[in-house]
Amino acid sequence: MRTIVTGAVFLLLIAGLGLAGCSRGGEGHGISSKAIAVLNPTEGSKVKGYVSFERDGKAVHVVAMVDGLSPGPHGFHIHEYGDCSSPEANSAGGHYNPFDQPHGGPTAEKRHVGDLGNIVADKSGHARLELTDKLLKLEGPHSIVGRAVIVHARADDFKTQPTGNAGARVACGVIGYAK
Ligand code: CU
Ligand code: ZN
Repeated sequence: MRTIVTGAVFLLLIAGLGLAGCSRGGEGHGISSKAIAVLNPTEGSKVKGYVSFERDGKAVHVVAMVDGLSPGPHGFHIHEYGDCSSPEANSAGGHYNPFDQPHGGPTAEKRHVGDLGNIVADKSGHARLELTDKLLKLEGPHSIVGRAVIVHARADDFKTQPTGNAGARVACGVIGYAK
């Protein structure tokens, strides 16, 4: 009898640990609810910074800090491939667009998932952006983790297909899970 009770307690303990293991890191069995991209300058650029992502309910909260920019707006997107290896970061591919939509602004009804609009630099070349986006995902088949954030030389006009005519890529960073 005692062995059976002890056994049951042991099983409950295991089940409890299992549940605790699942709740850690939210929904994804150990997958973090935070991600970060460290932005490095492309060839001939001095632009650097970081972008952090944090799950906020069904949305994702984004905070970006970028330095070394020319004053004014700069296109700010998530591109398809987490590959910043080529000198002008063309290895990162086009805007991340898993649902085959047209390019648009961050609040447009139809847009690429990666269309996060513009980041605006002040006179000293510093830009800070904070937004909450409902299309970004940090897990699942359309996760942005493992893709790249690109900052452009010019403004995204939210119209020109499929790039927003934002010009050269001045910084690139691969999105990875963060603690
Ligand atoms: Cu871009
Ligand atoms: Zn786009």
